[in-house]
Amino acid sequence: MTLLVTGGAGFIGSNFVLDWLRQSDEPIVNLDALTYAGNLENLKSLDGDARHHFVKGDIGDRALVDQLLATHRPRAIVHFAAESHVDRSIHGPGAFMKTNVDGTFTLLEAARAYWGALDADAKAAFRFHHVSTDEVYGSLKPEDPPFAETHPYEPNSPYSASKAASDHLVRAWHHTYGLPVLTTNCSNNYGPYHFPEKLIPLMIVNALAGKPLPVYGDGQQIRDWLYVTDHCSGIRAVLAGGRVGETYNIGGWNEKANIDIVNTVCALLDELRPSADGPYARLITYVKDRPGHDRRYAIDARKIERELGWRPAETFETGIRKTVQWYLDHPEWVARVQSGAYRDWVSTQYGA
Ligand code: NAD
Ligand code: DAU
Repeated sequence: MTLLVTGGAGFIGSNFVLDWLRQSDEPIVNLDALTYAGNLENLKSLDGDARHHFVKGDIGDRALVDQLLATHRPRAIVHFAAESHVDRSIHGPGAFMKTNVDGTFTLLEAARAYWGALDADAKAAFRFHHVSTDEVYGSLKPEDPPFAETHPYEPNSPYSASKAASDHLVRAWHHTYGLPVLTTNCSNNYGPYHFPEKLIPLMIVNALAGKPLPVYGDGQQIRDWLYVTDHCSGIRAVLAGGRVGETYNIGGWNEKANIDIVNTVCALLDELRPSADGPYARLITYVKDRPGHDRRYAIDARKIERELGWRPAETFETGIRKTVQWYLDHPEWVARVQSGAYRDWVSTQYGA
């Protein structure tokens, strides 16, 4: 029994791999292209662990994916690999189409060929688990109910449009070819190993460096925050018991305005690492808004709870405290991400 994980050196993928191997001896083959967002240092604790087999490569490389499937015979693919940052998608949408749309297409085709040749038992047990986002549903008004799985797709950014396209491909490969797929649409994650281009880690590292804390627009946009290991446990639950062809929303029941998130981070830093220059909130700086900025996301996570008994283990208060503490405890990780030195890890560790 083996899992093929794509994008397992990124933020959520590396948390998933670490979490999986803390609870299971089922090996993971981890296919990751190591873009700027991939960081093998996240997986340093698995060095020498035979259960983790890392392969640097692109999900769009059909020959490589075919070879990995033929060699390792996984019982499931858990597909995280993606371009994931909305701001980057606004500046350069091409990479998002290439990986999120074309890459997912290639992976589905490789999976279909592999799955089609399995014996009946293995075929019935196989799963293609597609990890997606709540952003595919668009933006909510203040009075709207949270996104249920039946909400229409209304993506607004190049990123969310590319993820919506990938969700549609996954759905079609099930309906047309019978590929046993599962899709999860999750809200905003936070926690260890989060690349500091995203709101929470950016605020922590900027505050510690005495730099401005850039809040887009009026700071009143709302996101539903989920601690990353809760996302991992949600994926495990769906992979184990989710109904084939279904989608499951995963969320934290934690709707917060961005400015409240930033103030919470500042207050925690004031407590845990006070600055001689005064409260960190002095660094909050309102800046030009993100074009097409979605106002509110919120997840109705009742289906996964009803069918699979999943609920998040962390509250926002426990999760954000752990997160801020993790960044304080790992200054070398932060420094190497900021300097770019983390990108040398592969050659340092594995040679040319
Ligand atoms: P991330 O940007 O931190 O990591 C993405 C990983 O994919 C990186 O390791 C990168 O090297 C790898 N990758 C990119 N292109 C690749 C390619 N062509 N081939 C192989 N590997 C490639 O992203 P994340 O925040 O960990 O998100 C993981 C997945 O979860 C994505 O599919 C994202 O859409 C989804 N998601 C993220 C969030 C969130 O809050 N971060 C919430 C819901 C869903
Ligand atoms: O909802 C799930 C999505 O959450 C995932 O699919 C994406 O991969 C993930 O990046 C995240 O998208 P967001 O755009 O919500 O995350 P980000 O951290 O970029 O921004 C969160 C909010 O904070 C958003 O309203 C924009 C705002 N923001 C962000 C940054 C980086 C700021 O105000 N200032 C900032 O500097």
